[in-house]
Amino acid sequence: MTSAAALRDISPINVHVPLGDRAYHILVGRGLIETAGSRIAALGARAAAIVTDEHVGPLYADALAQALTAQGLRVSVVTLPPGEATKSYANLEKVCDAVLSAKIERGDLVVALGGGVIGDLAGFAAAVVRRGVRFVQVPTSLLSQVDSSVGGKTGINSRHGKNLVGAFHQPSLVIADTALLDTLPLREMRAGYAEVAKYGLIDDARFFAWCEANWQSIFAGGPERDEAVAQSCRAKADVVVRDEHETGDRALLNLGHTFGHALEKITAYDSARLVHGEGVAIGLSLAFRFSAFLGLAPATDAERVERHLKAAGLPTRLGDVPGGCGTVDQLLDAMAQDKKVKGGALTFILARAIGQSFIAPGIDPDKVRAFLGREIDALHP
Ligand code: GLY
Repeated sequence: MTSAAALRDISPINVHVPLGDRAYHILVGRGLIETAGSRIAALGARAAAIVTDEHVGPLYADALAQALTAQGLRVSVVTLPPGEATKSYANLEKVCDAVLSAKIERGDLVVALGGGVIGDLAGFAAAVVRRGVRFVQVPTSLLSQVDSSVGGKTGINSRHGKNLVGAFHQPSLVIADTALLDTLPLREMRAGYAEVAKYGLIDDARFFAWCEANWQSIFAGGPERDEAVAQSCRAKADVVVRDEHETGDRALLNLGHTFGHALEKITAYDSARLVHGEGVAIGLSLAFRFSAFLGLAPATDAERVERHLKAAGLPTRLGDVPGGCGTVDQLLDAMAQDKKVKGGALTFILARAIGQSFIAPGIDPDKVRAFLGREIDALHP
């Protein structure tokens, strides 16, 4: 490690999530994985069960296990296949049994070492084993560093849909090593970046403009990457502290997700066609285009959103979905099965401008139908 890297490692950016007796810190910086063992050990557990996947485990699990052992902890590792299908009942059972076999008690720790799939599954296991043990998130993808590892949403998928079985369970610590993203496939980096840009679009026009100016350095791994991850975590933490259990404002974090989830469903969650962040990117662009369609936001803002996401290599239109986006009816049907439906009317997150989003309940499905019809017609001029 160079001395400059060592210096930065000593002082990661520290984002505090002030949730009373469940408050925790999110540490962001390059090279943090090297000191993760001592940082986790400082939480005072006697044992830790590391949950990881077959991609990440071989790279980092041994070193983390050794570092924790050196700090006097009893350590076990459970390794699962990578991919969304891992968030299943069968793997929940496997992780819970592994955690119990490792004799993890209330004061001990589950350590989620991986992307969003591992974080959600391990976090849910931690929420239910012994009615709740502590857990630490060590997110290894941009998407998990800026979204899923923060805020305490944990869970698995059911045959009825994604994330439908889960619990709110806040981590005790989040360690986001931004150097781990150096080897992330570009497609995954881009997909995670959609969530970064989202925070600017929600309520921080200055951050969006900063992203427009700095996205290349974020991708290249300059100090701007650390700042982007930290600022995303600050933005998310602010919302989570206001509304931990999503009875109000937390829904703003779903900007772009109503359209995005529908597209994920239509593409049968096939990551070869569309990954979550790509669905969100199209969803963000559509949320602004729909806002403009309804006369709420200037069309120039919708164009600016699309221009930036495109520049970062992200899809922005229904026509960008490989293999097609389905019909208007299929899209509406997919939206109707979303968690955000009440009495047939849809809740959207719309915007008056970049950085001025709001929750819009009771959106008339006919308006959505007209908008989607126009979007699909435009694909075949
Ligand atoms: N990813 C949205 C949330 O955590 O609320």
